[in-house]
Amino acid sequence: MATKLGNGIKTVGLAPNFQSGFYGQDIISVRQFTRENLAHLFRVADEMRAVVKRVGSTDLLKGHVLAVLFYEPSTRTSSSFIAAMTRLGGSVIPINEVKFSSVTKGESLPDTIRTLESYADVIVLRHPDVGASQVAAEYAHKPIINAGDGVGEHPTQALLDLYTIQSELGKIDGLHVAMAGDLRYGRTVHSLARLLCMYDVSMTFVSPEILRLPLDVMNEVKAAGRTVRETYDVHDVIADLDVLYVTRVQRERFADQAQYESVADYYVVDLELIGMAKEKMVVMHPLPRVNEISYAIDNDPRAAYFRQMENGLYIRMALLAAVLGKA
Ligand code: NCD
Repeated sequence: MATKLGNGIKTVGLAPNFQSGFYGQDIISVRQFTRENLAHLFRVADEMRAVVKRVGSTDLLKGHVLAVLFYEPSTRTSSSFIAAMTRLGGSVIPINEVKFSSVTKGESLPDTIRTLESYADVIVLRHPDVGASQVAAEYAHKPIINAGDGVGEHPTQALLDLYTIQSELGKIDGLHVAMAGDLRYGRTVHSLARLLCMYDVSMTFVSPEILRLPLDVMNEVKAAGRTVRETYDVHDVIADLDVLYVTRVQRERFADQAQYESVADYYVVDLELIGMAKEKMVVMHPLPRVNEISYAIDNDPRAAYFRQMENGLYIRMALLAAVLGKA
């Protein structure tokens, strides 16, 4: 177990800035966030966006090292964390493909974490097992950031998703958000639904029966007092939506490929569907997309998924700065 400072803060360096509430903290679940620390983080992300647009980089985290340890594939999450640390003047140990590391020799997660934390100040971890980041955090003396633990959570994705909603629509309270696709295995949905519980939103979950939102997440949403609806058909709600959050069916999570095939292409967001939506709404997607969003809508102003992806850079810059006591 990690020896933490008395206040639960892990050792990450001198001259900390506690304002964000994230200094020295593991980032494991969206349950750790409050509206106040999110508002602060989003302001810092706005500043990071301005820095990147104006000058490209800063030396805020000069001398700091980030380890990026991914046991599952990634394009956006890993490269945006690497870009974030680099643009903040820090350095990165990227282990994007554990098959070239000692994991292949049978090294355990705790030992791999112990190794990396002796070289780095913070570790970003993606792992196929639910709870892997929590286990890593219990061993580590340095902060662990969960970049996806199997079908569990993906808290930094939810941060950038919420930040995108705020940036695109100027508010979060009062919105009607639908999440569509693979709600069972889609960890981004599990995190976003939980995060939205802190806001006065109504949520509609759109999926086939076998891909419905897990009961524990649904119960949390209901316990938070949110208005919830479930449907198979996005047409039922499209005209009323402010946000349509689309996900891919997570092929790699299915034990039975025939079952995957039966739901793989059950819906497509296309021009016809978008034609029924409000003029001021947004279509989001954590990406990668497979067939669930037609390329024909990419140039529609409501298609926000590429802006959403870019926001991942600013949010991860803000989060790294906050965890390392500089924001
Ligand atoms: C998501 C993930 O890994 O959960 N990707 C991402 O980080 N943007 C979504 C997915 O793989 O479908």
